[in-house]
Amino acid sequence: MNYNNNIEDLELMTLTSENSDLVKGFVTAHYIVDTPLFQMCSMTKEELCNTYLTRIDGMLACNLSFGFREKSTGKLIAMCANTLSPNKAHLVPNVGDSIMYRYINTIGDYGQEIGAKTYMTFGSACVSPKYAGLGLATKLLNQSVAKGVEIGCEAIGMYSTNSFMHRIADKMGFRILKRSRFEDFVDYDGTKPFHGKNVGPHVDLVVYYKWLKPTKDTMSV
Ligand SMILES: CC(C)(COP(=O)(O)OP(=O)(O)OC[C@H]1O[C@@H](n2cnc3c(N)ncnc32)[C@H](O)[C@@H]1OP(=O)(O)O)[C@@H](O)C(=O)NCCC(=O)NCCS
Repeated sequence: MNYNNNIEDLELMTLTSENSDLVKGFVTAHYIVDTPLFQMCSMTKEELCNTYLTRIDGMLACNLSFGFREKSTGKLIAMCANTLSPNKAHLVPNVGDSIMYRYINTIGDYGQEIGAKTYMTFGSACVSPKYAGLGLATKLLNQSVAKGVEIGCEAIGMYSTNSFMHRIADKMGFRILKRSRFEDFVDYDGTKPFHGKNVGPHVDLVVYYKWLKPTKDTMSV
């Protein structure tokens, strides 16, 4: 973990369609495929980036996404791309017909499951390794929660396979809607493509949610 970076040099920004090139540059530079999971799925960097690049303009148009930029260089070093649902924008197009996205799309419409009519999805969180572990993803999620409250969303949700994101969600009082193991995923042809395979730290796909308005559910706790 790097403790030498100057947090004072960072500024939080709302990412909009005007920042499209900045965001695309960041995604292309930082999304990597050299993890056991991506290798197991034989996913190329181009396919991985395209899953985001094809959706990013629609996400940025919501004006609900955030990033951190270095004031001195203008470079984006962290981002999240959020969407307002119900519009299924959080589901991933199956670029390259990857097993991974067939699996991720099993999460379905979580807002409907929890009974929320308007909900925001926190997604595509990514922090430059240079700034890892300094609380930036936590701040991006905090900012997203505040935005959800401001625009009157009933709930905010997110899904992740990343253990650091699991930690942040727990810390911020998110509830788990469902958790599934890569190991157990049954593909359309009845096979279990992840069974017995090394998917590195990505063990569970967890869908989280947090109510932003009082509900019967939260008031009884
Ligand atoms: C997941 C990710 C966004 C986290 O960003 P981050 O800014 O480093 O996260 P935070 O600093 O807010 O840290 C969250 C927790 O994880 C821990 N953590 C983060 N990076 C760490 C590292 N490299 N080593 C050890 N712990 C780490 C932090 O200590 C913190 O826990 P704590 O509050 O109990 O100390 C970042 O690691 C990343 O971009 N990963 C690759 C992309 C990805 O998988 N995104 C998730 C998509 S849903």
